[in-house]
Amino acid sequence: MTTTGSQEFWEEFYRERDQVWSGRPNVALVAEISEVPPGTALDLGCGEGADAIWLAEQGWRVTAADISQAALDRAAGHAAEAGVADRITWERHDLSRSMPAGPFDLVSAHFLHSPVDESRNDALRAAVDAVAPGGTLLVVGHEQVPWHDHGVTFPSPDEVLASLGIDADAWIVERLASRPRAARGPDGEDAEVTDSIVRLRRR
Ligand SMILES: C[S@@+](CC[C@H](N)C(=O)[O-])C[C@H]1O[C@@H](n2cnc3c(N)ncnc32)[C@H](O)[C@@H]1O
Repeated sequence: MTTTGSQEFWEEFYRERDQVWSGRPNVALVAEISEVPPGTALDLGCGEGADAIWLAEQGWRVTAADISQAALDRAAGHAAEAGVADRITWERHDLSRSMPAGPFDLVSAHFLHSPVDESRNDALRAAVDAVAPGGTLLVVGHEQVPWHDHGVTFPSPDEVLASLGIDADAWIVERLASRPRAARGPDGEDAEVTDSIVRLRRR
């Protein structure tokens, strides 16, 4: 899929719906980052901005990127309502091709999945390079989702780690975990999903 095709997909995805995500920060972000002293953060595939807003509220200075301008505009509106607009910069990027200028003390990617684009690994490898010395890379994604039973497979934490292509001597693996959590399925049903969590610190 071309950048244009992927952008069109995600623009339409957001334009067709008033609100897609819960408006709450991701559980794994809060669990992994609450104790990390704030600095500069990059949120990849920020969607409607809940993670970026939560980070800004914790004192981080945030750059948040997404391929969809509609998502970024909506996220910026939420940030203004939350009173943290001055702490977040919103940038449109196809992250498999370009990245906001870093480095950053935290680079965070939550559910950077796309049904129309298989270049997630390119984006995640670029994310590795955007982490400052001493900084944290947090990659959280689907590992098991019960309603995705039509041949969609998601990588395990080990597979995500391998896909990053890091120099093992230059990084500390702080978390490599499969974590179940309660969620709502596409028809509003209760479900249990498993997140894959990879948290690394650059030496
Ligand atoms: C499943 S949503 C997750 C949104 C948000 N991180 C969250 O956890 O609620 C995936 C997001 O990644 C964005 N995205 C997908 N492919 C992208 C790409 N190549 N470059 C930038 N953003 C992308 C989509 O527009 C969408 O907002």
